[in-house]
Amino acid sequence: MLDTEPHPAIQAWREVEPRRAQPRLVEAIQHRRRSQVYRLRWPGDGGSIIAKRCRRPMTIVEQTTYRAVLPFADVRAPAYYGYLDDATSDPADPFAWLFIEDLGPHRYAPGDAAQRSRLARWLGEVQAAFLAPDARRGHTLPVRDAAYYQRYLRRAIDELPALAAERSFSGSLPVLVKAVVLMLQSLQEQWDKVVATFAGVPMTLVHGDCLPKNIHVVPGPAGEVVPIDWGNAGWGLPGSDLGQSTLLLGRTLIGEASYEEYANALQPVWPECDAALVRRLATLGRLLWSIKVIAMSVPGFRYDSAAKVEQILSIYSSVLLTSLQDVHWAEFEGQG
Ligand SMILES: Nc1ncnc2c1ncn2[C@@H]1O[C@H](COP(=O)(O)OP(=O)(O)OP(=O)(O)O)[C@@H](O)[C@H]1O
Ligand SMILES: [Mg+2]
Repeated sequence: MLDTEPHPAIQAWREVEPRRAQPRLVEAIQHRRRSQVYRLRWPGDGGSIIAKRCRRPMTIVEQTTYRAVLPFADVRAPAYYGYLDDATSDPADPFAWLFIEDLGPHRYAPGDAAQRSRLARWLGEVQAAFLAPDARRGHTLPVRDAAYYQRYLRRAIDELPALAAERSFSGSLPVLVKAVVLMLQSLQEQWDKVVATFAGVPMTLVHGDCLPKNIHVVPGPAGEVVPIDWGNAGWGLPGSDLGQSTLLLGRTLIGEASYEEYANALQPVWPECDAALVRRLATLGRLLWSIKVIAMSVPGFRYDSAAKVEQILSIYSSVLLTSLQDVHWAEFEGQG
């Protein structure tokens, strides 16, 4: 699309870089209420960048990760180009702009063994770099610990039955809601194992939503595999991102990840780390992710059609169910 009026993304970029030649083309990649993503192009082969407008708290986490945290690990990551508070947004629900390198359109394919090992090495290198507390000092990111996920667990257990009653769902949906609540309650009963696991392993930088859709493959012979969309990042459980990277939602549920290669990358700084432990942490990472997305979906479920609620909840509930089946709590006794 050729814009004659400056697009809000171009206006924001102008404020960040007033002296540079301005992009002329704006390609909308994703337009949702909570986030809008554009590709800004310069004429000819002047290149392109990504402009993302999102809620300010998440944008600050994502900006911090690109600007200050990932460069410390010295890996291939999108270059950071700028940040701007969106002065036009509602002060009660502020948004901000983030400008980063365009990594191109290719997404991670978890079925490709070469890509799986590149991702395991990328995550392993980054997460090994932040295992020492000294490396985390000086970087302000939220903590994604057991208490963080327990808040989501409690919220989901409290709010799902209330939602079902309020919406008077019919057909198979009430059964699905009940099954999800029962699974969440059974998880709550095992929560001491989750707490012990967090206590027994060192924290590191985590992406927090490391699904295949949030991992790109950089064009070129090296074909680096690089996670994007770091708005949920923080200090959390090693191995958890690797677990989420197998989730092709709505399709064959759980794929494989290169647990061995990830463990190899961590062993120099964490000698007890082996493929079996990484597999357990990865399963827990999927489980924790499913609690969070279920809890976060409930407010929207108040307004979604029953068919949409059922579609989303059944996808998340299959991740929850499969992770619970894979988790084998006995192996978590005396973790670490
Ligand atoms: N640096 C980038 N390079 C190339 N494409 C990008 C980049 N950043 C974002 N995109 C594209 O824009 C899409 C949305 O971006 P992003 O995942 O950051 O937004 P989001 O609103 O947080 O998405 P979601 O909640 O769906 O994961 C990505 O799936 C990708 O296709
Ligand atoms: Mg995304």
